[in-house]
Amino acid sequence: GTPVLEALPVTPIIGAEIRSIRLSGDLPAPIIEEIKTLIARHKVVFFRDQDHLDDAGQEAFAGRLGDLVPHPTQHIREGTSSLLELDSSHGGRADQWHTDVTFVPAYPKYSILRGVVIPETGGDTIWANTSAAYQALPPALKQLADTLRAVHSNAYDYAAHRPKATEVEKKHYEEVFASKSFQTEHPLVRIHPETGERTLLLGSFVQRICGLSRSDTQKLYELFQGYITAPEHTVRWRWQTGDVAIWDNRATQHVAINDYGDAHRVVRRVTIDGDIPVGVDG
Ligand code: SIN
Repeated sequence: GTPVLEALPVTPIIGAEIRSIRLSGDLPAPIIEEIKTLIARHKVVFFRDQDHLDDAGQEAFAGRLGDLVPHPTQHIREGTSSLLELDSSHGGRADQWHTDVTFVPAYPKYSILRGVVIPETGGDTIWANTSAAYQALPPALKQLADTLRAVHSNAYDYAAHRPKATEVEKKHYEEVFASKSFQTEHPLVRIHPETGERTLLLGSFVQRICGLSRSDTQKLYELFQGYITAPEHTVRWRWQTGDVAIWDNRATQHVAINDYGDAHRVVRRVTIDGDIPVGVDG
């Protein structure tokens, strides 16, 4: 049918705002299909003024995009099937570049994030297009990336990735890891199952690149990660309470900017079941 949604690109490379829609579990199927098409095209889409959504409403809407999947290690919010709350006052600051939950084999395909408490200023989120990043690689680096694989783990490497982690945060993650640890090998280049695009699959859960030393891993990680986080591959969103962002977790990384000190920030996320990445060689 004829598209009815109005999508305003935020940049030509990534991000679009979708206007004039009230998200709910009752949206007609063609509208849901249109939203999925816009996510595939823009990688992250934004909706303002969705203050009517509560936890149940967020889950009901998200459930229309696929099967909800609870976080494998974090606390699920009471009264919900799969909702993860990130509250800045309890250390919930996703301030490292990452793709959600890549330490499991079939990590989520979509994440749906709702702004609940937003600081007066600060606490923006930045997303990067990992397909544009792959495209920007020179041929020699494309060839190299195509052949590499990496181990993703929920064992946070504080020395490398979290120089600012507090003792309390370190202790928390050490406890989580001791009780439930994941190690998953993925190709460094993932063929997107819907668009066929090649995407770089890295992010802060990467523990090592297969066959390389720790120090070579770190250098190559920074080399490829630099293409992902290059400003021209990113979009930055200034949150308002009631905003909803949905991203294609197979074609993006994101980071929540930790610049608001003691101000309060609460966001709630649900994720949709994905599939096991397929690399260039199948
Ligand atoms: C997340 O990493 O899923 C949350 C991002 C944010 O807090 O903006």
